[in-house]
Amino acid sequence: MSLFRDVFISLSESRSLRRFAENSSLARKVSGRFVAGVTLSEALAVCQEENRHGRSVTLDALGENVQSEEHAEASAAVYHLMLDRIAEMGLDANVSLKLTQMGMDLGTDVAESIVRTLSEHAQTLNNFVRVDMEGSAYTQDTIGIVTRLHGAPAIGGSVGVVVQAYLFRTEADVDHLIAKGIRVRLCKGAYKEPETIAFASKSDVDANYVKLMKRLLTSGIFHGLATHDEAIIEQAKAFVAEQGIDRSSFEFQMLYGIRRDLQDSLVKQGYRVRVYVPFGEEWYPYFMRRLAERPANALFIAKNLFR
Ligand code: FDA
Repeated sequence: MSLFRDVFISLSESRSLRRFAENSSLARKVSGRFVAGVTLSEALAVCQEENRHGRSVTLDALGENVQSEEHAEASAAVYHLMLDRIAEMGLDANVSLKLTQMGMDLGTDVAESIVRTLSEHAQTLNNFVRVDMEGSAYTQDTIGIVTRLHGAPAIGGSVGVVVQAYLFRTEADVDHLIAKGIRVRLCKGAYKEPETIAFASKSDVDANYVKLMKRLLTSGIFHGLATHDEAIIEQAKAFVAEQGIDRSSFEFQMLYGIRRDLQDSLVKQGYRVRVYVPFGEEWYPYFMRRLAERPANALFIAKNLFR
């Protein structure tokens, strides 16, 4: 199982396969299983539909590891447009971005300055920028940037970050973020990390997730619990009931196209649910990480390709 995951995560990093796949119309059709389209208007239509079903959205214009400032600025321009369109259309949506998409590989100052401007824009619209967490080479700088931005009066609560339960360091990061009053999305983690810094077994990752989840839920800050793991979701529900925590004081978050049945039932039970809706041309690494998470997805895709 872990070999399967490793193979797909390695494939997600292949430049030649990526070039081939993103230019193939067949592969693009198949990617629709997890990606809400290529254009912003397609994504906004999906967003409206999600809202109609009582689910909030976080919109992600796919892209990562840009290699020039022009490319980083172009990515940021899409995000400014997204924030404006969300406001104009009155959608219940915020945005999620990756620092490497905003020029992190060119220097942390490049990414910080771009995300500062975006977060200030979000603040003027009463909206929110979530900074996704990438591979462990970026963890420290990501936490540092978000902490500094959060401290800026023109941004305040309009920026938050993601932490990954598979990393040993995350417990200390959660304590730091809570102390600063920063909003967190807790996920398990989707990258390949060495055993020296990350839990290798699913049971250890899950146990750490539950421990950190409880800490976040009792912090008095609005956080997101990102998982499709029903056993963990049940534990969250039981903990919240036991502690008398208001259902509106946190949200469950899930990925577009995954466990819609579970998303619906949580909404019906009165919980907040936010769906992560990715769109754009650069879908390949995101898509491959989703296949890595579940062998059945790869089988499903293979069947569709051969049909
Ligand atoms: P787990 O992988 O244990 O799966 C539990 C169950 O969920 C499975 O048995 C299956 O039923 C279902 N499931 C999970 N993945 C599925 C899939 N791909 N297809 C179909 N069913 C699936 N990661 C990261 O490193 N940085 C980030 O910023 C983010 N951001 C993020 C946002 C949101 C909203 C979500 C939901 C997830 C992320 N992730 C992420 C990804 C996360 O780290 C993790 O890889 C996936 O969520 C899968 O883990 P689960 O918690 O769902 O549990």
